[in-house]
Amino acid sequence: MTPLPRSQFPVTRHHRFFNHAGVTPLPVVAAEAISRCTDAFVTGGSVALDPVEARQEEIRVIAAQLLGVPDHTVAFVKNTTEGLSFVANGLRWSPGDRVVLPACEFPSNAYPWLALRDLGVQVDFVEPVGPGQALPVEQFEQALRAAPTRLVATSWVQFGRGWRTDLAGLASLCHEHGALLCVDVIQGLGLLPADLAAWGVDFAAADAHKWMLGPLGVGLFYVAEEHIDLLRPMEPGWASVQHRDDYDRLELAFDPTARRFEGGSFNNITIEGMGASIELLLEAGVDAVWRHVDELDRRLTEGLTAIGVEVLSDRSGDGRSGIVAFAAPGGDPAESAAALQADGFVTAARSGAVRVSPHGYNTADEIDELVAAVERLARAAR
Ligand SMILES: Cc1ncc(COP(=O)(O)O)c(C=O)c1O
Repeated sequence: MTPLPRSQFPVTRHHRFFNHAGVTPLPVVAAEAISRCTDAFVTGGSVALDPVEARQEEIRVIAAQLLGVPDHTVAFVKNTTEGLSFVANGLRWSPGDRVVLPACEFPSNAYPWLALRDLGVQVDFVEPVGPGQALPVEQFEQALRAAPTRLVATSWVQFGRGWRTDLAGLASLCHEHGALLCVDVIQGLGLLPADLAAWGVDFAAADAHKWMLGPLGVGLFYVAEEHIDLLRPMEPGWASVQHRDDYDRLELAFDPTARRFEGGSFNNITIEGMGASIELLLEAGVDAVWRHVDELDRRLTEGLTAIGVEVLSDRSGDGRSGIVAFAAPGGDPAESAAALQADGFVTAARSGAVRVSPHGYNTADEIDELVAAVERLARAAR
């Protein structure tokens, strides 16, 4: 028995799918929610809105549960980039302010900060350590000691090798040094138990289309309660104000909650899909899903090592996540990933490695089959 029911994942009839760090296959519940919501707009138009908006507020509550934060600190966004940009562009910067980020971030969490250079903001990189691109908190400490820092931006789980940053440790270090912590949580949220508010994270964002098992182009933005007023809403619109349904009252009185960042009309259909996926995860229990995936990844790591394939991810301690990256047998990760896909296994080529990212419905047998497929590749490459 897998913690997520395999019957929810028709993809299992087509592929052995190991790319949840890329784009997830949708579970049946999400597809059904999307189609129900679409039908409601087909048959009702504006008549559909009241129930859809009521459901949206329920989804905000379960999304907050997944993040481990109060529900009034969560806003719906169109993707991770938008949430991170709300922070990058919503803070008031002065020339000489400093931002620090790992040198191995996904572009979504690099470009919003690099774009601040034209305001005189200094952006410095923290170098990851070793082939696993580990980012222990001490790496950030060196950077924070070097110069006063306004903000540290990092991903929770690094997209290439899968190093998981200790967010509680990093948040307390940042706060000791007077810096804010903004986190791209897309490679962890849905798989790893999250307690962002207790950990002291100041801002976070994620799209739904990876471990959260939701559709593309919809996501979550978290702003710690004490910072709601700190950020200037970048896209104020009818949905940003306390009286969001009173269109005749033109008064810019921002909603006191994170809803002020929502601006205009919502992508209700994808929000419903994301909501169904989050419910599926919460019903299974994120702890149980993580334990299962961790065990699959342990099995994969041991299997690959036993056939002489080098595992590049650092899985030695709490830095491990859902991602296992390994050196391509023939030297070219894109070629290996393509050959695996032709053989029925979906992985990805990222950052000079083949990246594997199973979820809570994958099985130990599928992992063994993947190891056997990699062994065939390795033999062919010799
Ligand atoms: C770490 C990380 N951040 C962000 C994204 C995606 O950003 P967005 O949701 O803005 O498309 C990805 C992958 O697509 C990623 O791996």
